[in-house]
Amino acid sequence: MRIDILTLFPEIALSPLNESIIKRAQQAGLVEIHAHNLRDWATDKHRKTDDYLCGGGQGMLLKPEPIFAAIAELKRDDTIVILLTPQGKVFKQALARDLSTEAHLIMLCGHYEGVDQRVIDELVDLELSIGDYVLTNGALAAAVVSDALIRLIPGALGDARSPEDESFSDPTLLEAPAYTKPIDFRGLKVPEVFLSGHHAKIEAWKKEQAIRRTKENRPDLLSDS
Ligand code: ADE
Repeated sequence: MRIDILTLFPEIALSPLNESIIKRAQQAGLVEIHAHNLRDWATDKHRKTDDYLCGGGQGMLLKPEPIFAAIAELKRDDTIVILLTPQGKVFKQALARDLSTEAHLIMLCGHYEGVDQRVIDELVDLELSIGDYVLTNGALAAAVVSDALIRLIPGALGDARSPEDESFSDPTLLEAPAYTKPIDFRGLKVPEVFLSGHHAKIEAWKKEQAIRRTKENRPDLLSDS
């Protein structure tokens, strides 16, 4: 897979992707990530990428010209163009799974009040939000979406870890609580059931706890099902 991130802040998008699992996925050749500064496609002498809103109003909007030029240069026949914006559809694990099988993604990061609507109408395949809050720009959101889908590329997590058994692999249930050693930490004990060695009992306990946790933290997931 190749990911091209178009942003005014390439370092914000890239730095979270240059550590740990995602760094190793790049080194293993599973994914190639390029972050580009939109200013590189601005043609006026001040390399301007934004302008005032038509019809008045507060704030600035990303101009269409540099974005059209950048995407014309980077786009291939198999590209999906994603705009990161709080106005987008909310990004979920199922979409991360779908996108993890694509060959080429361009992630366009909004800034200021967003982008000119003609960019969305003509160039964008998918508008994505990472949640119901407003970031200062879309570069962090591009890193979040990239991380979530790159770790699902076969081989990215290595043999020892599987994405099957975690929260959102079942989209209606969070993961159960988990424990490691020591068995007794300052008098706080690992639940008895884990010491029983009884696999079916452990699974039943985990299911019950997953439901309890989901009811408490994310009742919306249970009512979605
Ligand atoms: N840009 C600003 N806020 C955002 C959000 N919540 N999701 C995606 N892009 C954004």
